[in-house]
Amino acid sequence: MNSLIDIMQLTTEEIDSLIDTANDIIAKPEKYAQACRGKKLATLFFEPSTRTRLSFEAAMYELGGNVLGFSEAQSSSASKGESVSDTARTVSCYADIIAMRHPKEGAPLVASMRATVPVINAGDGGHNHPTQTLADLLTIQREKGRLSGMTVGLCGDLKFGRTVHSLIAAMSRYQDVRFVLISPEELTVPDYVKTEILEPKGIDYQEVRDLEAALPELDILYMTRVQRERFFNEADYVRLKDTYILTPDKLDGAKQDLCIMHPLPRVNEISVAVDDDPRACYFKQVLNGKYIRMSLILKLLEVHVS
Ligand code: NCD
Repeated sequence: MNSLIDIMQLTTEEIDSLIDTANDIIAKPEKYAQACRGKKLATLFFEPSTRTRLSFEAAMYELGGNVLGFSEAQSSSASKGESVSDTARTVSCYADIIAMRHPKEGAPLVASMRATVPVINAGDGGHNHPTQTLADLLTIQREKGRLSGMTVGLCGDLKFGRTVHSLIAAMSRYQDVRFVLISPEELTVPDYVKTEILEPKGIDYQEVRDLEAALPELDILYMTRVQRERFFNEADYVRLKDTYILTPDKLDGAKQDLCIMHPLPRVNEISVAVDDDPRACYFKQVLNGKYIRMSLILKLLEVHVS
């Protein structure tokens, strides 16, 4: 495997190994400081991003490599009508590895078929976001000491939230993981998540509307933003956007070791008053995102650090 398009391309052993390397990077960053010297990462972002793009770039710099790329489609030849395939083939001439975000589902896969260097899916439309999931898994492993035996609540826009789809797929491979899917009726997970991932594996899941009622049983609460850019009309977005707002009082009945996560950006879903709660892990996720991307770049470039 030398591209990462879907989290399911990685075995759980490979995920464990990526997490081990990330933990080693956190413990001994100097060991890795020149690991990618002379290598270039291209970030091709056809959609807005703060964390994903900048963490990829920071990751490559911290490995001693260099970065090139663009952060909006308008500044690339896509605005002249160039195909994703041609862009990928072109950038393969300049870079050793590509991270691509695109509003169209499947675009990074198409790019990987034409590129001659590894392509990483940095988010494709409402579909998948495997590197956010790796950041989430590293966070869960570091906070809880395990990835199995947990009740995971996912709350908000489970329909368009690509991080949710990848996280459910990844977590469904661990023992005794249960899901509580908390969303408005209109924003439940796509059918394929149920029919292709949860049901064939016989995974215990519930679909509910009420966050407060679900909270006491959760080990992980994964909040998400309502994905405005994927809605067909603004009125629906406005009606649904503030369905769930996590505030300190709602956490009274939650477990003491609950891990509150969010891929960010947040809009209103988590009150800033929750940020000081020791259970808030979302800024830890941000930092872990850089370390796990360092680990992934090393793997895909087949760089071995001893
Ligand atoms: C997410 C994304 O882009 O899917 N952000 C991220 O990469 N951390 C979540 C979101 O935009 O809501």
